[in-house]
Amino acid sequence: MCGIVGYIGTKRAYPILIKGLKRLEYRGYDSAGVAMISDSGDLNVYKAKGKVDNLTEYCSDKDVSGCVGIAHTRWATHGEPSARNAHPHYSQSRNLAIIHNGIIENYADIKTKLQAQGVEFKSDTDTEVLVRLVEYIMEKKNLSLLEAVQVALHQVIGAYAIAIVDKRDPRQIIAARKQSPLVVGIGENEFFLGSDASPIIDYTDKVVYLEDGNIAVIRLGAELRVMSILGEEQELKVKTVDINLGQIEKGGYEHFMLKEIFEQPECLKNCMRGRINVEGDHVTLSAMIDYRQQLLNAKRIIIVACGTSWHAGLIGKQLFESLCRIPVEVEYASEFRYRDPVIYPDDVVIAISQSGETADTLAAIELARKAGAFVFGVCNAIGASIPRQTQTGVYIHVGPEIGVASTKAFTGQVTVLSMLALCLANERRTIPGEQYKEMVAELTRIPEKMEEALKTNEQIERLAPIFTYAKNCLYLGRGYNYPLALEGALKLKEISYIHAEGYPAAEMKHGPIALIDSEMPVFVIATRDRLYEKVISNIQEVRARGGRVTALVTEGDTQICKFADHVITLPDTLECFQPLIASIPLQLLAYHIAVCKGKDVDRPRNLAKSVTVE
Ligand code: M6R
Repeated sequence: MCGIVGYIGTKRAYPILIKGLKRLEYRGYDSAGVAMISDSGDLNVYKAKGKVDNLTEYCSDKDVSGCVGIAHTRWATHGEPSARNAHPHYSQSRNLAIIHNGIIENYADIKTKLQAQGVEFKSDTDTEVLVRLVEYIMEKKNLSLLEAVQVALHQVIGAYAIAIVDKRDPRQIIAARKQSPLVVGIGENEFFLGSDASPIIDYTDKVVYLEDGNIAVIRLGAELRVMSILGEEQELKVKTVDINLGQIEKGGYEHFMLKEIFEQPECLKNCMRGRINVEGDHVTLSAMIDYRQQLLNAKRIIIVACGTSWHAGLIGKQLFESLCRIPVEVEYASEFRYRDPVIYPDDVVIAISQSGETADTLAAIELARKAGAFVFGVCNAIGASIPRQTQTGVYIHVGPEIGVASTKAFTGQVTVLSMLALCLANERRTIPGEQYKEMVAELTRIPEKMEEALKTNEQIERLAPIFTYAKNCLYLGRGYNYPLALEGALKLKEISYIHAEGYPAAEMKHGPIALIDSEMPVFVIATRDRLYEKVISNIQEVRARGGRVTALVTEGDTQICKFADHVITLPDTLECFQPLIASIPLQLLAYHIAVCKGKDVDRPRNLAKSVTVE
């Protein structure tokens, strides 16, 4: 939610900041802005509503000189998307400029108090309140910028990643974080700032992930200093990042989403690499070695997640219950955190998150840890907050996911949950050894079967225009395919803005069947499994009411084509791995429908990739 970039060094800051903003545009694109201290010592702030390209156009005739600057791409929380509310925000004297990702919850109180002291405001944002508070403290108490930031951060309640520059001291940027991510890159006589490492990796692989409550003093010609808000120096933990540029560029595809859909076979190989042995019949997860007892003794598993990650959690529930015989609850992290839930010390809480920065999931983790539960993370972004705040976990290793609509992270999460369930089932002896081996072997065959599933792309591209008229769509599935119905519907909603609902197919007769007519496309995941015959009956119920059925079926199926308008054929696999294969046509369907409707697939309206506000 909002992307932050910063640079201080000997190079021109502007191109570095703009390139960084483009990398972070997935975090928000309501507006973009830069603040740079120019060669002549002015603090220039330029902002534009909308995407980064609008900003560069606006800046085309402006003074963009200078070797220090901060920049921001916004996902609006307080104040409508507009140039006026865009970051950076000046202080009243225009000596300071700030960028911020997060929410200052008590901004209204602070604003009222500052207004009573004669401080004026130009925007509706919480962020402007913070920079004006910092300046007020500097002047009133005669403090340095660093000292004033420390005092101000004591007064604010909320979440923040901030960076501030002062034109009277062009060799310094002050940055701080609480609950919103911030990374400092360390180069040769230069420093970088980013909400994640993607704006930094072109220049250096040495980074420091700031911890909650840390302030970074970034001073040219000096060592990076990290301290607490109270001023206590913190040990500098310099990490080496391992992301290559190819991983975050489009690689010839029209959109990141399409690239990420097509990458999935390779991603899942990476996810399993080193975890499934070369013989392909045994899984080893280091988390299982290090925390064996906590995991094996779990009386209950609680999965906390949001959005697509929550859908992966629903598949995880079925895996853990059927293979390991451990009861599982799957919770929306945003509800769990405020529900006063019953958590026992022998519960294992699994937090699933692509970004590792989702505020609601982080809050759910904190709650679980306070209750004494063992918390296990399933995350994609290396070094993000969730892997740092869980006792242990597993990275899904699918590489950076840039498309706002999650695709490869979903299948990576399901793969990790499958490996974990198989490990636990084997250790707990809840499935026979032979079955365990066969299941592991089948998991290793999934990437190859995904390649087959990707061959449906052309058929789906041809079908997509048929559905662009739709105002509503229904997705039906049962068993392991029910969470997939939810996920298919979410994908369509997010990027094509068509209302869609996922339903357990048999629940349809308890209400939603009333919606069915010839205008309503119904997508049914009808792959061959225990419930296959029952799903056929559900399809007939839809057909009898004039509904238009598109069915995903297993190769060799001869029955469903009799009732369905369109049939998409997929390779066979075990029932529990079917969502890994069937997610591909559903992702492609959402993608091609959105493209046909002319929508901005990678940057759908109102959404952000990483939801770091609650
Ligand atoms: O980064 P996370 O997995 O924690 O994100 C959770 C949701 O915000 C995310 O899955 C969202 O629903 C996606 N846009 C779905 O495509």
